[in-house]
Amino acid sequence: MTRTVPPSPLVDAVRTRFQSEFGGEPRVFFAPGRVNLVGAHLDYNGGDVLPMAVDRGLYVAARRIEAPVLRLCSLDQELSVAVPAADVGERAREGHGWAAYPLGVWRMMGGHAPLAGGVEMVFAGDVPMASGLSSSAALEVATAFAFDRLFGLELGAEKLAAIAHDAETRYVGLSCGIMDQFASALCRPHHVLLLHCAGPSYEHVPLDGGSCEVLVMDTRKPRELADTGFNQRVAECRRALEVLQHHRHESWLAAYGPADLEAAADLEGVLLRRARHVVTEMERVAEAVAALRRGDVARLGTMLSSSHESAATDYEVSCAELDAITAAAREVEGVYGARLTGAGFGGCAIALLHPDCVQEVVAHVSRVFGGRFGVEPSFDRLRPGPGVREFS
Ligand code: GLA
Repeated sequence: MTRTVPPSPLVDAVRTRFQSEFGGEPRVFFAPGRVNLVGAHLDYNGGDVLPMAVDRGLYVAARRIEAPVLRLCSLDQELSVAVPAADVGERAREGHGWAAYPLGVWRMMGGHAPLAGGVEMVFAGDVPMASGLSSSAALEVATAFAFDRLFGLELGAEKLAAIAHDAETRYVGLSCGIMDQFASALCRPHHVLLLHCAGPSYEHVPLDGGSCEVLVMDTRKPRELADTGFNQRVAECRRALEVLQHHRHESWLAAYGPADLEAAADLEGVLLRRARHVVTEMERVAEAVAALRRGDVARLGTMLSSSHESAATDYEVSCAELDAITAAAREVEGVYGARLTGAGFGGCAIALLHPDCVQEVVAHVSRVFGGRFGVEPSFDRLRPGPGVREFS
């Protein structure tokens, strides 16, 4: 996975800071953020998702040292920490701030392989934090990959993704699904990752970058309720699963079909709507993959838009700003579809569009959205980038 250096200023930036902070020559690693084309809130329901790595992510300059201590600093955060390896507990501590992520990876990796000594690391990222592009998964996966290489473990990308996910759920304490870490560890350039979360198993499906690209549109609305709302959805899905299991036993909510929902008369109200989103979203992912395989970007875009509709009405994770920004984008010719991304509740949406219409979309959406909310949205063109790697 070692490749030639692409011209990212952050590679030099983390290396230079490492030299001034610790002295000597580090190795430099990278893990990307992601967007998910379709498959909203399916990963923790054992469903299929369709993420792609973006050409932005997290860079880390790192070195293994003999002293049993983790010295961690960041170009983006003021806080630096030096934590004795023996003091990395079972759970994140408040004073460790952002460093909880790499410390969690250290803790979880220690369960798979002995890590003798310590590390010095300098981090920097170009994924906006809390935007729905998964900066935390990029941080975890970059760290797991760096430990794997520095300690000569060769655990493999899937195992590293699982360790990164354990760090998030068991150490940091957010009960997310596996999509973000697996996307960051396994994605390939010019492909989307069809990840079957129940296995997990996966395959790479080509995405024709000549006929479409992804534009990220940031509403600048803070992702209110992102934590509480997310955990609430996880709990509601668990309850819907319990109801359905009385009729026919499956281990995951995504394994049920529309007929199961119809047959379960006691599945009603909010739980019925949550389950209906999950079941119909599974159908949309299958349809999106079929469209991708035959190069039908228009149909793929339709799946994005109907995914948004279902996420807004049945799953209730949208908001006025996300509904408005996606609707405005769809008004421009050359936009195939648009939907919220990440957990929802604010933050960013994505539009799948023809590369030639990007300027027009930016102008139109800025005018319509700015006129209604008095806020200038921001935009970012993203291309499917490579997965985790080391720079030579
Ligand atoms: C967040 C979580 C993911 C996934 C998405 C919704 O990004 O981290 O695991 O559940 O929300 O699809």
